[in-house]
Amino acid sequence: MSDIRGHLTTIGLAAGAIHSEMFGALPAINPGVVDTGVRTPPHLPAGEPGPGPSITFARSGLTVNWSPAYGSILELAEACDVPTRFSCRSGVCHVCVTGVVAGATRYVHAPLEEPDVGEVLICSAAPESDVVLDL
Ligand code: FES
Repeated sequence: MSDIRGHLTTIGLAAGAIHSEMFGALPAINPGVVDTGVRTPPHLPAGEPGPGPSITFARSGLTVNWSPAYGSILELAEACDVPTRFSCRSGVCHVCVTGVVAGATRYVHAPLEEPDVGEVLICSAAPESDVVLDL
């Protein structure tokens, strides 16, 4: 899509007249992580399934049970190779903000400022119930 957008603007179409919608996962933002160019598709984490509520990463097509062995939903997503976006990992920057499609989460570390209703900072949250995330 970005290539097509580039070609269209190159031939003179106004950028504001080009509309697109992406249905896959957003590109990852993982500062400090070296990109090897090899992408592993999302998968269940290693080991036994957790005893907690289910977390569905909707864009990745993966449902996983929560385990308290993970410090946050972000850590679980990383264990599953679900594309993630983060920076501070402490509830400050909001880079990890993710839409909550269904279910409820709770903060294990209080964020500096809560995101909008219907969003969660996955670096600082755990599921309160079965949850479906736009991730
Ligand atoms: S990574 Fe900064 S708020 Fe989650």
